Amino acid sequence: MLFVCLGNICRSPTAEGVLRAFVEEAGLSERIAIDSAGTYAYHAGEPPDRRSQQAAALRGYDLSALRGRRALREDFTRFDYILAMDRSNLADLRALRPAEGKAALHLFLEFAPSSGFEEVPDPYGGGEKGFDLVLDLIEEASRGFLAHLRREHAAEFRS
Ligand code: 4NP
Repeated sequence: MLFVCLGNICRSPTAEGVLRAFVEEAGLSERIAIDSAGTYAYHAGEPPDRRSQQAAALRGYDLSALRGRRALREDFTRFDYILAMDRSNLADLRALRPAEGKAALHLFLEFAPSSGFEEVPDPYGGGEKGFDLVLDLIEEASRGFLAHLRREHAAEFRS
């Protein structure tokens, strides 16, 4: 599955790091491929924003090895799920999607229905608090997404 935001240096690498940790804890690392990308190439090749790395490290997630890249048309055939952080990312992804692209495209917070949010707010131009909110929402949606995968793909995950 692929997480997508605008810059691929704040929200989507945070989601990649959090879901990776949850999936490892569940013993499913061999079954679920996780990546992240941005709709905007400006930060391609860069590590996550220092503030995202710090906020994540305080909760035990190490984002330091991740590097930004742009979302590609091929991502729609390489991944089963593409999860967008906000409506603008979702609209950009719908425009990028090739006819043969099979990936299920969702807003990530569809998997956090009790959060009171539909979008993960872009923290880039704001203060430190925004980065903690991003982590809160992403942790909740990651738990929900993993529960969804277990329900939808129960047979594959049993063996
Ligand atoms: P992200 O945050 O989409 O969560 O990675 C942003 C990072 C960079 C920019 C905007 C949002 N930017 O305009 O450079």
